[in-house]
Amino acid sequence: VLELQESAAEMFGREAALFVPTGTMGNQIAIRLHTRPGEEVITEARSHVYNWEMATMASFSGCLARPVHAEQGRLTWSSIERALSPPVYYRAQTGLITLENTHNMAGGTVLSLDRVREITAGAGRKGLPVHLDGARIFNASTALGLSPAELARGCDSIMFCLSKGLAAPVGSLLLGDRDFIEEAWRIRKMLGGGMRQAGILAAAGLVALDTMIERLSEDHENARILAEALAEIGLFQIDLESVQTNIVLVAMRRGSSAEMVSEMRSRGILAVPFGPREIRFVTHKDVSRQGIQTAIALLQDLSRDKRFN
Ligand SMILES: Cc1ncc(COP(=O)(O)O)c(C=O)c1O
Repeated sequence: VLELQESAAEMFGREAALFVPTGTMGNQIAIRLHTRPGEEVITEARSHVYNWEMATMASFSGCLARPVHAEQGRLTWSSIERALSPPVYYRAQTGLITLENTHNMAGGTVLSLDRVREITAGAGRKGLPVHLDGARIFNASTALGLSPAELARGCDSIMFCLSKGLAAPVGSLLLGDRDFIEEAWRIRKMLGGGMRQAGILAAAGLVALDTMIERLSEDHENARILAEALAEIGLFQIDLESVQTNIVLVAMRRGSSAEMVSEMRSRGILAVPFGPREIRFVTHKDVSRQGIQTAIALLQDLSRDKRFN
């Protein structure tokens, strides 16, 4: 576990790291440490911390989310600045800004280095911390051809997941300076995340860091091939510009996503409904190029089904 934490900290050029069982726990520990009860957290409207983490920022940290909608999930400093609380005693104060890179609900879109820098510089001028939900930060750094350390520079804390594109069975890392991680250790214990014989999980995490990052570009190529074929087949609406990493987000032209996902499953294609009309496809280590070609052929077949066309 210590080796994994040290490797992760070194990879991001940070003082320390903490192994946590889930990305959600890592994000919520960070929110707890950066804020005080009664403060607001500025976050993108479709972010994971706001939509998928069980209102924990409210129940555990006593904070209110201040969601800001951004095109393709990409916040700008000017949109964040407009959402900051004025420094008056009768308004809840902004305590934290969170970023998500890549952005899951927006379809795996990438926040560019310029955008990250613009936001962290703005936050710095206001004395506000920035937490990066980098569950898929390696997909972002692969897409941009940058090191994850460079892409995350300026963020006060970072969470990344071993268990998504990096294919480990369990675990995420929370990174920051030494004092922050020391406190995070306490909060993790409070949440029941102080695991005992976790070395076997950390070992898989080390394999993930050693062997799974370089191959992410294959997932991105596979996602692109799938997306372009789906645009041709015409079964779904798809914005090809938003397909930048390993996620392909589509919308039904006709019929419900639940019905489509169930039909696809019966034919051997696994995807998830991402709303009443939306479906998310994800490429990963266990999806081969051949698998993508097979899925395309099956979807071509499915496009003749009157329920969906
Ligand atoms: C952007 C993002 N952040 C955080 C998480 C949380 O990770 P976990 O499921 O390990 O709690 C996810 C999971 O899907 C995610 O997509």
